[in-house]
Amino acid sequence: MARLPPLAVASGALLLLFVSVSPCRAVAGGGPSSVVLPVSKDDATQQYVTMFRQRTPQVPVKAVLDLAGTMLWVDCDAGYVSSSYAGVRCGAKPCRLLKNAGCAITCLDAVSAGCLNDTCSEFPKNTATSVSTAGNIITDVLSLPTTFRPAPGPLATAPAFLFTCGHTFLTQGLADGATGMVSLSRARFALPTQLADTFGFSRKFALCLPPASAAGVVVFGDAPYTFQPGVDLSKSLIYTPLLVNPVSTAPYGRKDKTTKYFIGETTIQLKGRVWREKSTDYFVSLTGIKVNGHTVPVNATLLAIDKKGVGGTKLSTVSPYTVLERSIHQAVTDAFAKEMAAIPRAPAVEPFKLCYDGRKVGSTRVGPAVPTIELVLQSTAASWVVFGANSMVATKGGALCLGVVDAGTEPQTSVVIGGHMMEDNLLEFDLEASRLGFSSYLPSRQTTCNNFRLG
Ligand SMILES: *[C@@H]1O[C@H](CO)[C@@H](O)[C@H](O)[C@H]1NC(C)=O
Ligand SMILES: *[C@@H]1O[C@H](CO)[C@@H](O)[C@H](O)[C@H]1NC(C)=O
Repeated sequence: MARLPPLAVASGALLLLFVSVSPCRAVAGGGPSSVVLPVSKDDATQQYVTMFRQRTPQVPVKAVLDLAGTMLWVDCDAGYVSSSYAGVRCGAKPCRLLKNAGCAITCLDAVSAGCLNDTCSEFPKNTATSVSTAGNIITDVLSLPTTFRPAPGPLATAPAFLFTCGHTFLTQGLADGATGMVSLSRARFALPTQLADTFGFSRKFALCLPPASAAGVVVFGDAPYTFQPGVDLSKSLIYTPLLVNPVSTAPYGRKDKTTKYFIGETTIQLKGRVWREKSTDYFVSLTGIKVNGHTVPVNATLLAIDKKGVGGTKLSTVSPYTVLERSIHQAVTDAFAKEMAAIPRAPAVEPFKLCYDGRKVGSTRVGPAVPTIELVLQSTAASWVVFGANSMVATKGGALCLGVVDAGTEPQTSVVIGGHMMEDNLLEFDLEASRLGFSSYLPSRQTTCNNFRLG
């Protein structure tokens, strides 16, 4: 935990549960079968940002997408105005279900969303900067579109969506205008599970991250994955199991011990919780890597998750590039260089090691003409094939670099598949079947994330 500033002071609305909620849900016969979040890429930070509506009266909120995290958090300090928020009491069920929650017992500032007595609290974290703090858990109205293409659809409204109050300083390092982070993790109150509970659809979502200047989507629930021109990917994804890392990386507090934190005017009590939690990140079983069809020698121990939760392979939208443990990075880089021996090299450009003269590399429909990298995954008929568009990064100076970053010798996780490698790939995270479906690079199937259509 980095910094703990005073909890916020905002306008003092009193807790009014379910006040004047006017659901715009226009789907007959119960809830919508799916809701969507539009996604764009922020150039400056390389983060993927989205927009939803929240509060009463509703306002648009811009936030950064995160496959990790525990739940949605937004800045409740700056301009949080709403007549419909309500604190979650310490003894309430959601608070008991949250393993890493504490209790804000007293807050001496004026009452606001971020300053309430006897309120469940949690530790919102900016996973882009690794800064975290403590904040109230509250509920408020949240609205998401049921579709946005081909035309904007009706909004689906959750009258009491649970989230954490972050603080203004926590938004430092996020894309311009973003005031929070949307967790897509497997955690109990992250968006996939909370939306499924609220609207009664399946606990699954599909992620289609766009490259810069295009638009992507997150689809929650039971929607067909249809793309123009007439491409339906619903039946043609390749599946691999999603693994649960038994050890979380969140190091808060200790078991069976009461700790009091004094944060500005707020006292937060952490009591008798089970702190050793399973990780809520999405891990897959990477069993090998091939370059141009040739197996790259990697230490199998590093690909497995050990008892301490170290090792293995996970997906991260907050990591812009794929990050590899040093020996794996070296082996992949060597194998790639060997296959590319005929192409003139260019000086390395940080944070990459292997770069080429961009003018000497041909181009294809699937990006620069370079060797394929195959991620060999457990019990799949085919590997996740990574083409040039997802493996190579064009630098400002005209070099084309292999977009993998050295994680050093002792990273917590050996392979972190980053945003660039996932762009224009459809990835389905099915939490019920505990599996990941992947499409490989969509232009190899004559479409892109930008061409997603629903309804
Ligand atoms: C919380 O309780 C304390 C002590 O009873 C009181 O002084 C304070 O005003 C209360 N704060 C809020 C936000 O209700
Ligand atoms: C493989 O990695 C493990 C874990 O880091 C290490 O203990 C072991 O020595 C490595 N094996 C080889 C052959 O390098």
